[in-house]
Amino acid sequence: MNPLDRTKLFFGSSLLVAFVLFLVSALPSQALEMANRDKQSSPCPSSAKILIGYYSKYGSTRQYALWLRERIPSDLAELSHDEPDLSRYDLVVIGSYVRMGKIAASSFLKKNWPLLREREIILFTVSGTPPDHPALAESYKRSIPSEIRSRMIHHALPGRLIQKDLSLFDKILLYFGRTFEKDEAIRKTMLEDYDYVRRENVLPLISDIQKIMQSRCDRNRMESIVNPSSTDP
Ligand SMILES: Cc1cc2nc3c(=O)[nH]c(=O)nc-3n(C[C@H](O)[C@H](O)[C@H](O)COP(=O)(O)O)c2cc1C
Repeated sequence: MNPLDRTKLFFGSSLLVAFVLFLVSALPSQALEMANRDKQSSPCPSSAKILIGYYSKYGSTRQYALWLRERIPSDLAELSHDEPDLSRYDLVVIGSYVRMGKIAASSFLKKNWPLLREREIILFTVSGTPPDHPALAESYKRSIPSEIRSRMIHHALPGRLIQKDLSLFDKILLYFGRTFEKDEAIRKTMLEDYDYVRRENVLPLISDIQKIMQSRCDRNRMESIVNPSSTDP
């Protein structure tokens, strides 16, 4: 082979090697891009089943539950009447008013803990005490055992109280309650009408629910890639 042919052969094979190297390096990023495109376009392999259960005496907790339901596909249950089958749900959102320092849903949480502990749980409380007041954190701690608290997300939402709508018994309770109450901010909530119930107060809750659903979806998608035969119930 003359020197010219050898040079041609050298350059030709170098070009071929460079081309193969380019293909090998481009493929993984292309595959990644395709996977990402799939991730964005394909629906979630399994959407979570959600229950919104609530306790509400004068309607503010119920109002929040209804606003949530408008944004989150879910079943709705009034827990003082209905007995939903909790085993059917992946995520249980519980709404509860606060009364005489106690979270109304605390007995429900304790009674159903064996079933609830297997699921994602979010509690939202609705109170006269402002959500950032230490007395509310105290009520939360006192009403709900630490094991349950540690497994649950809690949102405190501001409530509503209209004196003329209260039952006689509740008027009397508040009357005596405020004679013992030393904290001026709390005393005010027992004396005066207030209504802080606003649609936008549920936005942080919606964002938490969506995060839980998204991470569940990602987990299922990963499982269906690793083990295609596995089906989510
Ligand atoms: C008799 C009575 C006792 C209450 N006790 C408390 C309390 O201890 N702490 C508190 O933050 N709010 C208390 N509240 C305020 C309620 O939590 C608030 O009005 C709430 O919005 C009621 O929810 P609902 O409309 O879903 O019944 C009390 C209200 C009443 C009528």
